[in-house]
Amino acid sequence: MQSFVIGSAASVNVPDQPTTGEYSNAGLSFCAPIEIDFPKGWREQRSPTCASHRVNVEVYPSKELAVGAAGRDLFEHLLRNPEGATGTATGNTYLPIYAETVRLFKEHRANGAVVNLARHQFFGLDEYFIKNGDNGHAIDPAHPESFRGFMHKHLGQPLSLPVNPNSLTRWGNFWMPAPNAGQEVGEACLVYERARSQARVQRQYVGIGKNGHIAFLEPREGPNAEMLFWTRTRLVNLSPSTRLANFGRVDSEIDSAISVGLQTILDSGHVVLVALGDSKAEAIAAALEGPIGPHCPASYLRLLPTGRVTFIVDQAAASKLSVTK
Ligand code: GLP
Repeated sequence: MQSFVIGSAASVNVPDQPTTGEYSNAGLSFCAPIEIDFPKGWREQRSPTCASHRVNVEVYPSKELAVGAAGRDLFEHLLRNPEGATGTATGNTYLPIYAETVRLFKEHRANGAVVNLARHQFFGLDEYFIKNGDNGHAIDPAHPESFRGFMHKHLGQPLSLPVNPNSLTRWGNFWMPAPNAGQEVGEACLVYERARSQARVQRQYVGIGKNGHIAFLEPREGPNAEMLFWTRTRLVNLSPSTRLANFGRVDSEIDSAISVGLQTILDSGHVVLVALGDSKAEAIAAALEGPIGPHCPASYLRLLPTGRVTFIVDQAAASKLSVTK
């Protein structure tokens, strides 16, 4: 693996191994200037040294190599923590990643290794919701867009993890922020938050939307935008751009979701963000090199202490970073 510090090299060669770098907010002259637009109260709440936190960035020359690295990352995390807890993401990015993790498990088991994940807990980031006046409901796991269905199909079932279809909030090993029939949304969110904090999620995987969202924390503008930073699991509206990206139309029947908040994600032991393809290049550049703020929710990950956040990206997704130009 080739290592470099962003900006210290005149050019970056991308060999067949990943290129790794560190983004820093420290006063290093070669760093892209990063304006930190701290949310109100941040300096009082957290260490003022957060301005020197670094993000590990792994740039892979191809989508396949980035997927391989992310799939192995999850596999090794599960091996290290069979009774631990993982935050899982959904989306097309994670389809090949989970397939790779499952392949590694099958190979491992075929070699005689015993891995018991029956006590491992998985926490999904979000689930779609359809509003109906003051009411509404989370979509059914059988719905083709269901994230519960997605997790079951692509990770739970292939790894032979148990499922309890009677509870939407806790679906076997998978916790989802989704109310059961007759349950208030707020109650389901609290149950989810409590379970997550008791389980202590060690590794949270996230994708990124083209507009810089993570989970369904959509970009915000305006006077109260920075309150995004303090959020926890709750019901959110989907932005027109996300509805277009995810359903092909802005007036989709699914208009909202229950999503973890930013604080929920930042409470995780380590956050791994994976992005593939040039459609994510703007979002990755904004997240790593733009100001930190609610216009790009993924940028807040830079506030995690050094060693607690990793970006795994392919060359296409990294193509708008100053270091790769
Ligand atoms: C949805 C999910 C996000 C995911 C994003 C990107 O909006 N809520 O968690 O990161 O999609 O999805 P994809 O990987 O399909 O681009």
